[in-house]
Amino acid sequence: MRIAVVGTGYVGLVTGTCFADSGNTVTCLDIDAAKVSRLKNGEIPIYEPGLEELVVRNAAAGRLRFTTDTVEAIRDAEVVFLAVGTPPSADGSADLSALWKVVDSIAAHLPPGAVIVTKSTVPVGTCAGIEARLKKRTGRDCLVASNPEFLKEGAAIEDFQKPDRVVVGVRSQAVADALRNLYAPFLRTENPFLVMSPESSEMTKYVANALLATKISFINEVANLCERMEADIDDVRRGIGHDSRIGFAFLFPGVGYGGSCFPKDVQALAAMARDKGVVPRVLTAVHETNLAQKSVLGEKIAASFGGSLAGRTIAIWGLAFKPRTDDIRDAPAIDLIERLLAGGARLQVYDPEAMANTRAIYGDRLAYAGNPLAALDGADCLAIVTEWGDFRRPDFDDMARRMKSRVIFDGRNLYAPADMRNRGFVYHSIGKAPVA
Ligand SMILES: NC(=O)c1ccc[n+]([C@@H]2O[C@H](COP(=O)([O-])OP(=O)(O)OC[C@H]3O[C@@H](n4cnc5c(N)ncnc54)[C@H](O)[C@@H]3O)[C@@H](O)[C@H]2O)c1
Repeated sequence: MRIAVVGTGYVGLVTGTCFADSGNTVTCLDIDAAKVSRLKNGEIPIYEPGLEELVVRNAAAGRLRFTTDTVEAIRDAEVVFLAVGTPPSADGSADLSALWKVVDSIAAHLPPGAVIVTKSTVPVGTCAGIEARLKKRTGRDCLVASNPEFLKEGAAIEDFQKPDRVVVGVRSQAVADALRNLYAPFLRTENPFLVMSPESSEMTKYVANALLATKISFINEVANLCERMEADIDDVRRGIGHDSRIGFAFLFPGVGYGGSCFPKDVQALAAMARDKGVVPRVLTAVHETNLAQKSVLGEKIAASFGGSLAGRTIAIWGLAFKPRTDDIRDAPAIDLIERLLAGGARLQVYDPEAMANTRAIYGDRLAYAGNPLAALDGADCLAIVTEWGDFRRPDFDDMARRMKSRVIFDGRNLYAPADMRNRGFVYHSIGKAPVA
């Protein structure tokens, strides 16, 4: 098939590349000329494991192209995927301005019979809105479908090529068949291709993210309670997780969820509910619990220094909102950095992939270490924010030698408290009593 993908970010670039890799001819369109020019040169603007090799291979084979020219991208396309950002507006609802701009700009060039597919996470009713807008602009009925994306940054290629399920929202069997055909190479293990209305499909994406966010906020609230009740959240987690009705996924306590999806999608679903007169009690609590959780580590650190951070040197391991990505959008590390800087602390930070994005925001206000151990030199304490594999088995003796005080605030529960006590560290984790 000839495919256009509009928006070449985390989702669009992975989508376009994976469809090219399964034999389609794909043109990726973006308004960011610098990004397109880097991609044309085989440079990948984001960190995503396995992506570079696939982009380079498919571009060399002539199946994957990048452009800023709408006409070039759209004129021959059989399917047009929309993968632009849908960030939160001030009231929490999804800001669809980029999406509408794209719809308006492609309308005049859409070949008859082309299917427009929303991959962006969009509020329920957006497909219907696109249909109406295109009808107005083109004078004809256009085919519009919803196909939400469930990939995880850090494992995006694997998720795209081996999805648990593919969801499409369509109004015609022909469009369902075309999309089923497109996804067939990725569903050879018989994972389901689920066909529903665009409205149900749009809703499915929000509900999936909102439920995952709910699990995280739930376990974080329980973890905070465990700390005060001499219970250990990891024991409790094991105690509940073996119950097949509960399971283990997304029940790890931590510093709150971040990234460009969960925070915005929970708020957008709540905004949709309010708009329809449904009070979003659970969603509001999930969001507020998460905001509070993002400040837990900072509060513990401040309390340990008697409330004053002025003049303290604090090391931070992990800036990305999760491992295996360079994405720091809404990352808990940003909340922590803001809090500690406001208190007058000096911060020495390290992340395997997210340093450039962090430097773009903070410049010289932070010290950027070349490796995890270097971040610890002279530090009064270490805060661990992202559970990168590099941090799981560090050289504790070297750490102890470098730090001014052997104090760790672990927002990801990477180490066993008893081990840390034996090694002479004061160790604070989430959902268990600190050890000293
Ligand atoms: N990042 C994820 O893990 C993820 C997962 C599932 C779904 N989603 C959803 O997918 C959508 C995209 O997310 P993302 O993280 O890839 O965003 P992103 O910000 O990384 O990428 C969006 C891209 O769209 C481009 N763009 C904006 N306006 C444009 C226009 N008028 N024409 C062409 N290009 C334009 C931007 O330059 C950018 O490159 C969002 O709705 C998001 O909620 C994201």
